Amino acid sequence: MDRITIRRPDDWHVHFRSGAMLKTVVPFTARQFGRAIVMPNLVPPITTAKMAAAYREEIRAATPADADFTPLMTCYLTDDTDPADLVAGHRKGIFTAAKLYPAHATTNAQHGVTDVAKIHRVLGAMEEHGIPLLTHGEVTDAAVDVFDRERVFIERVMEPVLERFPALRIVMEHITTSHGAEIVRRNKTRMGATITPQHLLFNRNALFQGGLRPHMYCLPILKREEHRRALRKAAIGGETCFFLGTDTAPHLRHLKEADCGCAGVFSAPVAISAYLHVFEEENALDRFEGFASLHGPAFYGLPPNEKKVTFVRKSADVPKEFAVSKDSELICLFGGGQVDWSPAREDKGLVA
Ligand code: NCD
Ligand code: ZN
Repeated sequence: MDRITIRRPDDWHVHFRSGAMLKTVVPFTARQFGRAIVMPNLVPPITTAKMAAAYREEIRAATPADADFTPLMTCYLTDDTDPADLVAGHRKGIFTAAKLYPAHATTNAQHGVTDVAKIHRVLGAMEEHGIPLLTHGEVTDAAVDVFDRERVFIERVMEPVLERFPALRIVMEHITTSHGAEIVRRNKTRMGATITPQHLLFNRNALFQGGLRPHMYCLPILKREEHRRALRKAAIGGETCFFLGTDTAPHLRHLKEADCGCAGVFSAPVAISAYLHVFEEENALDRFEGFASLHGPAFYGLPPNEKKVTFVRKSADVPKEFAVSKDSELICLFGGGQVDWSPAREDKGLVA
Protein backbone atom coordinates (compact mmCIF):
# COMPACT_ATOMS: atom_id res chain seq x y z
CA MET A 1 0.00 0.00 0.00
CA ASP A 2 1.57 3.29 -1.11
CA ARG A 3 -1.27 5.64 -0.38
CA ILE A 4 -3.71 6.01 2.47
CA THR A 5 -6.79 8.22 2.75
CA ILE A 6 -8.42 8.62 6.13
CA ARG A 7 -10.67 11.02 7.96
CA ARG A 8 -8.70 13.93 9.31
CA PRO A 9 -7.07 12.79 12.57
CA ASP A 10 -7.16 14.47 15.98
CA ASP A 11 -4.31 14.73 18.47
CA TRP A 12 -5.60 13.93 21.94
CA HIS A 13 -2.51 15.23 23.80
CA VAL A 14 -0.43 18.27 22.85
CA HIS A 15 1.66 20.97 24.54
CA PHE A 16 1.54 24.37 22.85
CA ARG A 17 3.16 26.50 25.62
CA SER A 18 2.62 30.25 25.05
CA GLY A 19 4.13 33.33 23.38
CA ALA A 20 6.72 32.83 20.62
CA MET A 21 6.87 29.09 21.18
CA LEU A 22 3.11 28.75 20.76
CA LYS A 23 3.19 30.80 17.56
CA THR A 24 5.88 28.49 16.19
CA VAL A 25 4.29 25.16 17.04
CA VAL A 26 0.53 25.65 16.69
CA PRO A 27 0.56 25.68 12.86
CA PHE A 28 2.16 22.22 12.72
CA THR A 29 -0.64 20.68 14.73
CA ALA A 30 -3.40 22.84 13.24
CA ARG A 31 -2.51 21.85 9.67
CA GLN A 32 -2.55 18.12 10.33
CA PHE A 33 -5.24 17.63 12.94
CA GLY A 34 -8.89 18.62 13.24
CA ARG A 35 -8.79 18.97 17.01
CA ALA A 36 -6.28 18.68 19.81
CA ILE A 37 -6.55 18.28 23.55
CA VAL A 38 -4.32 21.07 24.81
CA MET A 39 -2.36 20.45 28.00
CA PRO A 40 -2.60 23.12 30.72
CA ASN A 41 0.92 22.91 32.22
CA LEU A 42 1.89 26.49 31.49
CA VAL A 43 3.64 28.89 33.81
CA PRO A 44 1.35 29.73 35.57
CA PRO A 45 -0.85 26.68 34.93
CA ILE A 46 -4.34 26.96 33.41
CA THR A 47 -6.42 26.39 36.51
CA THR A 48 -9.63 28.36 35.85
CA ALA A 49 -12.19 28.60 33.07
CA LYS A 50 -11.29 32.25 32.59
CA MET A 51 -7.63 31.39 32.02
CA ALA A 52 -8.57 28.58 29.64
CA ALA A 53 -10.80 30.87 27.58
CA ALA A 54 -7.96 33.41 27.23
CA TYR A 55 -5.48 30.65 26.37
CA ARG A 56 -7.86 29.31 23.72
CA GLU A 57 -7.91 32.77 22.14
CA GLU A 58 -4.12 32.84 22.03
CA ILE A 59 -4.15 29.48 20.21
CA ARG A 60 -6.87 30.61 17.80
CA ALA A 61 -4.88 33.73 16.97
CA ALA A 62 -1.86 31.57 16.07
CA THR A 63 -3.89 29.15 13.93
CA PRO A 64 -3.33 29.65 10.18
CA ALA A 65 -6.44 31.09 8.53
CA ASP A 66 -6.75 28.15 6.14
CA ALA A 67 -6.48 25.50 8.87
CA ASP A 68 -9.69 23.92 10.11
CA PHE A 69 -8.64 23.35 13.70
CA THR A 70 -10.35 23.37 17.10
CA PRO A 71 -8.33 23.45 20.32
CA LEU A 72 -9.97 21.58 23.19
CA MET A 73 -9.00 22.95 26.57
CA THR A 74 -8.14 21.25 29.85
CA CYS A 75 -8.03 22.34 33.48
CA TYR A 76 -4.85 21.78 35.51
CA LEU A 77 -5.98 20.21 38.78
CA THR A 78 -4.39 21.45 42.00
CA ASP A 79 -5.09 20.74 45.65
CA ASP A 80 -7.34 23.83 45.55
CA THR A 81 -9.32 23.34 42.34
CA ASP A 82 -12.81 24.79 42.65
CA PRO A 83 -15.25 22.12 41.44
CA ALA A 84 -17.91 24.75 40.69
CA ASP A 85 -15.60 26.65 38.31
CA LEU A 86 -14.59 23.42 36.57
CA VAL A 87 -18.19 22.27 36.12
CA ALA A 88 -19.32 25.72 34.94
CA GLY A 89 -16.37 25.87 32.51
CA HIS A 90 -17.31 22.46 31.16
CA ARG A 91 -20.96 23.50 30.75
CA LYS A 92 -19.89 26.57 28.79
CA GLY A 93 -17.79 24.43 26.45
CA ILE A 94 -14.49 25.88 27.68
CA PHE A 95 -13.16 22.79 29.44
CA THR A 96 -13.26 19.45 27.66
CA ALA A 97 -11.44 17.62 30.47
CA ALA A 98 -9.22 18.07 33.54
CA LYS A 99 -5.65 16.91 33.96
CA LEU A 100 -4.15 15.32 37.03
CA TYR A 101 -0.43 15.94 37.39
CA PRO A 102 0.92 14.37 40.56
CA ALA A 103 2.98 17.20 42.11
CA HIS A 104 6.51 17.31 40.59
CA ALA A 105 5.87 14.37 38.22
CA THR A 106 6.89 16.21 35.03
CA THR A 107 7.42 19.58 33.33
CA ASN A 108 5.64 22.37 35.26
CA ALA A 109 3.95 19.91 37.61
CA GLN A 110 5.09 21.77 40.71
CA HIS A 111 1.53 22.99 41.33
CA GLY A 112 0.09 19.52 40.77
CA VAL A 113 -1.89 17.46 43.23
CA THR A 114 0.05 16.44 46.34
CA ASP A 115 -2.42 13.74 47.39
CA VAL A 116 -5.42 12.51 45.42
CA ALA A 117 -7.51 12.55 48.61
CA LYS A 118 -7.35 16.35 48.35
CA ILE A 119 -9.32 16.30 45.09
CA HIS A 120 -11.93 13.69 45.95
CA ARG A 121 -14.65 16.33 45.87
CA VAL A 122 -13.49 17.50 42.45
CA LEU A 123 -13.37 13.94 41.11
CA GLY A 124 -16.88 13.37 42.47
CA ALA A 125 -18.12 16.44 40.59
CA MET A 126 -16.36 15.29 37.42
CA GLU A 127 -17.94 11.86 37.75
CA GLU A 128 -21.36 13.42 38.22
CA HIS A 129 -21.04 15.80 35.26
CA GLY A 130 -19.27 13.48 32.85
CA ILE A 131 -16.00 15.44 32.74
CA PRO A 132 -13.13 13.13 31.76
CA LEU A 133 -10.09 12.90 34.02
CA LEU A 134 -6.77 12.82 32.14
CA THR A 135 -3.84 11.47 34.12
CA HIS A 136 -0.11 11.79 34.05
CA GLY A 137 0.29 8.29 35.42
CA GLU A 138 3.49 8.35 37.42
CA VAL A 139 4.22 8.40 41.14
CA THR A 140 6.97 10.71 42.33
CA ASP A 141 8.14 8.68 45.33
CA ALA A 142 11.95 8.93 45.23
CA ALA A 143 12.18 5.32 46.40
CA VAL A 144 10.41 4.09 43.25
CA ASP A 145 12.66 3.48 40.25
CA VAL A 146 11.91 5.91 37.41
CA PHE A 147 11.17 3.00 35.06
CA ASP A 148 8.56 1.62 37.51
CA ARG A 149 6.66 4.82 38.18
CA GLU A 150 3.79 4.06 35.83
CA ARG A 151 3.24 0.56 37.24
CA VAL A 152 3.28 1.85 40.80
CA PHE A 153 0.92 4.73 39.91
CA ILE A 154 -1.56 2.17 38.64
CA GLU A 155 -1.40 0.25 41.94
CA ARG A 156 -1.36 3.20 44.30
CA VAL A 157 -3.51 5.77 42.52
CA MET A 158 -5.40 4.46 39.50
CA GLU A 159 -6.90 1.31 41.04
CA PRO A 160 -8.26 3.15 44.10
CA VAL A 161 -9.66 6.01 41.97
CA LEU A 162 -11.41 3.52 39.67
CA GLU A 163 -12.94 1.84 42.67
CA ARG A 164 -13.99 4.99 44.48
CA PHE A 165 -15.48 6.70 41.40
CA PRO A 166 -17.11 3.89 39.40
CA ALA A 167 -18.59 6.18 36.74
CA LEU A 168 -15.60 8.51 36.30
CA ARG A 169 -14.27 8.46 32.73
CA ILE A 170 -10.47 8.41 32.59
CA VAL A 171 -7.79 8.74 29.94
CA MET A 172 -4.44 7.43 31.00
CA GLU A 173 -2.24 9.74 28.95
CA HIS A 174 0.83 8.56 27.07
CA ILE A 175 0.92 5.01 28.40
CA THR A 176 4.39 3.50 28.24
CA THR A 177 4.04 -0.01 29.66
CA SER A 178 2.11 -3.24 29.27
CA HIS A 179 0.63 -2.47 32.70
CA GLY A 180 -0.86 0.75 31.34
CA ALA A 181 -2.34 -1.03 28.32
CA GLU A 182 -3.78 -3.76 30.55
CA ILE A 183 -5.59 -1.57 33.05
CA VAL A 184 -7.13 0.44 30.23
CA ARG A 185 -8.32 -2.73 28.50
CA ARG A 186 -9.77 -4.09 31.71
CA ASN A 187 -11.77 -0.88 32.15
CA LYS A 188 -12.40 -0.10 28.51
CA THR A 189 -16.05 0.85 29.01
CA ARG A 190 -14.84 4.03 30.70
CA MET A 191 -11.11 4.26 30.13
CA GLY A 192 -8.99 5.25 27.19
CA ALA A 193 -5.28 5.80 26.61
CA THR A 194 -3.18 7.91 24.30
CA ILE A 195 0.02 6.46 22.86
CA THR A 196 2.89 8.64 21.56
CA PRO A 197 4.97 7.97 18.45
CA GLN A 198 8.21 7.76 20.41
CA HIS A 199 6.93 5.02 22.70
CA LEU A 200 5.92 2.99 19.64
CA LEU A 201 9.19 3.63 17.82
CA PHE A 202 11.85 3.32 20.52
CA ASN A 203 12.76 1.44 23.64
CA ARG A 204 14.95 2.89 26.38
CA ASN A 205 18.17 2.01 24.55
CA ALA A 206 17.43 5.04 22.34
CA LEU A 207 18.33 7.26 25.30
CA PHE A 208 21.90 5.98 25.18
CA GLN A 209 22.46 5.24 21.49
CA GLY A 210 26.18 6.00 21.06
CA GLY A 211 25.99 8.58 23.85
CA LEU A 212 23.45 10.50 25.87
CA ARG A 213 20.46 11.55 23.73
CA PRO A 214 18.60 14.46 25.32
CA HIS A 215 16.05 14.69 22.51
CA MET A 216 14.87 11.18 23.29
CA TYR A 217 14.16 12.12 26.89
CA CYS A 218 10.51 12.50 27.78
CA LEU A 219 8.24 11.56 30.65
CA PRO A 220 7.10 8.95 31.21
CA ILE A 221 10.53 7.78 30.09
CA LEU A 222 11.02 5.24 27.29
CA LYS A 223 10.77 1.69 28.61
CA ARG A 224 12.04 -1.81 27.83
CA GLU A 225 11.43 -3.51 24.48
CA GLU A 226 8.70 -5.77 25.90
CA HIS A 227 6.68 -2.65 26.74
CA ARG A 228 7.19 -1.11 23.31
CA ARG A 229 5.87 -4.37 21.87
CA ALA A 230 2.82 -4.27 24.15
CA LEU A 231 2.09 -0.67 23.12
CA ARG A 232 2.34 -1.54 19.43
CA LYS A 233 -0.12 -4.35 19.95
CA ALA A 234 -2.49 -1.94 21.68
CA ALA A 235 -2.20 0.75 19.00
CA ILE A 236 -2.65 -1.48 15.96
CA GLY A 237 -5.21 -3.93 17.32
CA GLY A 238 -8.34 -1.98 16.47
CA GLU A 239 -9.29 -1.70 20.16
CA THR A 240 -11.28 1.49 20.55
CA CYS A 241 -9.80 2.36 23.95
CA PHE A 242 -6.45 3.27 22.37
CA PHE A 243 -6.00 6.46 20.38
CA LEU A 244 -3.52 8.94 18.97
CA GLY A 245 -1.95 11.47 21.32
CA THR A 246 1.49 12.68 20.34
CA ASP A 247 2.46 14.41 23.59
CA THR A 248 4.42 16.76 21.35
CA ALA A 249 6.28 18.73 24.03
CA PRO A 250 8.52 21.49 22.67
CA HIS A 251 11.46 22.80 24.70
CA LEU A 252 14.12 25.12 23.30
CA ARG A 253 17.21 23.24 22.21
CA HIS A 254 19.48 24.79 24.83
CA LEU A 255 17.08 23.73 27.58
CA LYS A 256 17.22 20.11 26.45
CA GLU A 257 20.95 20.00 25.73
CA ALA A 258 21.78 21.10 29.26
CA ASP A 259 23.08 20.00 32.62
CA CYS A 260 19.54 19.21 33.67
CA GLY A 261 17.68 18.83 30.39
CA CYS A 262 13.92 19.23 30.11
CA ALA A 263 11.66 16.25 29.42
CA GLY A 264 9.69 16.26 26.19
CA VAL A 265 9.90 15.23 22.54
CA PHE A 266 8.79 17.75 19.92
CA SER A 267 7.08 15.67 17.27
CA ALA A 268 4.29 17.80 15.81
CA PRO A 269 5.80 18.39 12.33
CA VAL A 270 6.23 14.66 11.67
CA ALA A 271 3.51 13.21 13.85
CA ILE A 272 1.34 11.44 11.32
CA SER A 273 4.31 10.19 9.29
CA ALA A 274 5.82 8.71 12.44
CA TYR A 275 2.67 6.78 13.31
CA LEU A 276 2.26 5.62 9.70
CA HIS A 277 5.78 4.21 9.81
CA VAL A 278 4.77 2.08 12.80
CA PHE A 279 1.46 0.92 11.33
CA GLU A 280 3.16 0.00 8.07
CA GLU A 281 5.86 -1.98 9.87
CA GLU A 282 3.12 -3.85 11.67
CA ASN A 283 1.23 -4.44 8.44
CA ALA A 284 -1.74 -2.65 9.97
CA LEU A 285 -2.33 0.42 7.81
CA ASP A 286 -5.97 -0.61 7.54
CA ARG A 287 -6.33 0.02 11.29
CA PHE A 288 -4.71 3.44 11.25
CA GLU A 289 -7.88 5.42 10.70
CA GLY A 290 -9.46 3.93 13.82
CA PHE A 291 -6.49 4.84 16.00
CA ALA A 292 -5.96 8.29 14.48
CA SER A 293 -9.44 9.51 13.65
CA LEU A 294 -12.24 7.42 15.18
CA HIS A 295 -11.47 6.02 18.63
CA GLY A 296 -10.65 9.36 20.25
CA PRO A 297 -13.83 11.16 19.17
CA ALA A 298 -15.87 8.13 20.25
CA PHE A 299 -14.35 8.30 23.75
CA TYR A 300 -14.98 12.04 24.04
CA GLY A 301 -18.49 11.76 22.59
CA LEU A 302 -17.64 13.91 19.58
CA PRO A 303 -18.29 13.23 15.89
CA PRO A 304 -15.31 12.19 13.81
CA ASN A 305 -13.97 14.82 11.41
CA GLU A 306 -15.69 14.94 8.03
CA LYS A 307 -12.71 15.99 5.90
CA LYS A 308 -10.27 13.44 4.52
CA VAL A 309 -6.49 13.52 4.23
CA THR A 310 -4.21 11.47 2.03
CA PHE A 311 -0.68 10.36 2.76
CA VAL A 312 1.65 8.77 0.24
CA ARG A 313 4.69 6.60 0.65
CA LYS A 314 7.30 9.17 -0.29
CA SER A 315 10.33 10.15 1.71
CA ALA A 316 10.87 13.73 2.75
CA ASP A 317 13.67 15.48 4.59
CA VAL A 318 12.94 16.71 8.07
CA PRO A 319 14.64 20.02 8.86
CA LYS A 320 17.40 19.73 11.43
CA GLU A 321 15.83 22.47 13.51
CA PHE A 322 12.88 24.85 13.62
CA ALA A 323 13.51 28.46 14.60
CA VAL A 324 11.48 29.92 17.45
CA SER A 325 13.25 33.26 17.56
CA LYS A 326 16.39 34.81 16.08
CA ASP A 327 18.63 32.79 18.35
CA SER A 328 16.62 29.88 19.65
CA GLU A 329 15.32 26.73 18.03
CA LEU A 330 13.61 23.42 18.48
CA ILE A 331 14.92 20.01 17.53
CA CYS A 332 12.21 17.81 16.10
CA LEU A 333 11.76 14.05 16.16
CA PHE A 334 13.68 12.74 13.10
CA GLY A 335 15.27 16.22 12.73
CA GLY A 336 18.04 16.13 10.14
CA GLY A 337 16.75 12.78 8.92
CA GLN A 338 13.81 11.65 6.86
CA VAL A 339 10.23 10.43 7.11
CA ASP A 340 8.95 7.83 4.71
CA TRP A 341 5.32 8.98 4.52
CA SER A 342 4.35 12.44 3.33
CA PRO A 343 1.12 14.30 2.75
CA ALA A 344 -0.17 13.91 -0.80
CA ARG A 345 0.39 17.04 -2.83
CA GLU A 346 -3.28 17.91 -3.08
CA ASP A 347 -3.49 18.18 0.73
CA LYS A 348 -1.84 21.55 0.67
CA GLY A 349 -0.55 22.89 3.91
CA LEU A 350 0.29 19.66 5.67
CA VAL A 351 3.77 19.49 7.04
CA ALA A 352 6.82 17.55 5.85
C1 NCD B 1 5.73 17.26 28.93
C2 NCD B 1 6.07 18.75 28.86
O1 NCD B 1 7.20 19.07 28.49
O2 NCD B 1 5.21 19.56 29.15
N1 NCD B 1 6.95 16.52 28.90
C3 NCD B 1 7.09 15.22 28.56
O3 NCD B 1 8.19 14.71 28.68
N2 NCD B 1 6.08 14.51 28.09
C4 NCD B 1 4.91 17.00 30.14
C5 NCD B 1 4.27 15.64 30.14
O4 NCD B 1 3.35 15.37 29.38
O5 NCD B 1 4.71 14.81 30.96
ZN1 ZN C 1 2.24 15.68 27.86
